[in-house]
Amino acid sequence: PRKLRVGLVGGGTVGGGIVTILEGARELQASLGVDVEIATICVRDKAKPRDFPLPAGCAVVDDVEEILGDGSIDLVCEVMGGTTLAKEVVMRSIADGKHVVTANKALIAAALPELQEKLAEANAKQVLGSEGKFGFEAAVCGGIPIIHALQRDFLGDEVSQLSGIINGCTNFILSNMAQGGLSYSDALKEASALGYAEAAPRRRRLATRHPPRHTSPPHAASPRLLADPTLDVGGFDARSKLKILIKLAFGTDVGERVGGRGTVKLLGVAKRDGGDPRAAPPLPSLTPPPLVFRRDGDRLSAFVSPCFVPTSNTLASISGATNAVQIGSANLGSTVLVGQGAGRLPTANSCVSDILDI
Ligand code: NAP
Ligand code: HSE
Repeated sequence: PRKLRVGLVGGGTVGGGIVTILEGARELQASLGVDVEIATICVRDKAKPRDFPLPAGCAVVDDVEEILGDGSIDLVCEVMGGTTLAKEVVMRSIADGKHVVTANKALIAAALPELQEKLAEANAKQVLGSEGKFGFEAAVCGGIPIIHALQRDFLGDEVSQLSGIINGCTNFILSNMAQGGLSYSDALKEASALGYAEAAPRRRRLATRHPPRHTSPPHAASPRLLADPTLDVGGFDARSKLKILIKLAFGTDVGERVGGRGTVKLLGVAKRDGGDPRAAPPLPSLTPPPLVFRRDGDRLSAFVSPCFVPTSNTLASISGATNAVQIGSANLGSTVLVGQGAGRLPTANSCVSDILDI
């Protein structure tokens, strides 16, 4: 079998899932003719106990240079999050001719064109002798294969509309308010406790008290991270994912600013002026598709917002943290992909499929 040495940057929720799946899939690897060896895992705190079994011979380090500077590593898998150090890890790995897999939607949303340019540049130099590859299936909707679908399966089709539920945390909040009778703050607390919330800097803990007013997302660049739903309930997480989907469907880059031309309009689900989504007029179903993107001739329009949809729409039945993406296209009509948009194994599964594909 061909050996593939992997440097894993991040050993948390997703990183632990990647190790668990790969270690449990030895027979599958043999049948594919590969032997994926997780050579090194880089974490912030080496002393912290891990909730997954470490592969035999795997080094746990806290300095990313031990992966970046290791010429025997074939593939770097970045699952640490953030857009500063993570970007350096991805850019340097690509430049050095390593294959790269990431689950980092904030990074992909902010820098996909730059990363693709770096990949093309590195491949033009033929650093590897064969093409370097870059996979980011896990960056949108965790386990749902939406990236591969848009990259491959709709190539001969014309996508005219995307709509759906691409943030599990807010869907969990709104469906528990609508069906479970929970208050906004109780549903939000439960979503955070279940691990659906993004990590964000402490200074941005506005979500439970104020409507989202940021003009740029409080991306997790700070080293002081904690579970905080601001990125979720403010709509920023959904906007990052929507930006990636628009780029894949149309090659169009949309801006991070709120409102105006060339941007994505953003309305989070954070409680506004004591308002309660349940107090809205009795429309058929309150469902939060925090993603709508439509093409009308040469014009593209996109927004992130909770919406009412008819109960006859598939999206109306998607509750809890489940995600769904509805793709409207010329040849296929309407296609809906539904599944787990977050969580250890679903998200790690997308990274593993990228690794095995490479
Ligand atoms: P996580 O559980 O917080 O794990 C992050 C890991 O990175 C931890 O092992 C942490 O080390 C390590 N780390 C953080 N900063 C570091 C630094 N400066 N140097 C070295 N190691 C560092 O995060 P996660 O949930 O696995 O998410 C990882 C990525 O996947 C993010 O980009 C996220 O957006 C994306 N994603 C996650 C999900 C999901 O359901 N969780 C779904 C889709 C995409 P310690 O363990 O020592 O703190
Ligand atoms: N916080 C994100 C969500 C996690 O709720 O969808 C997966 O991207």
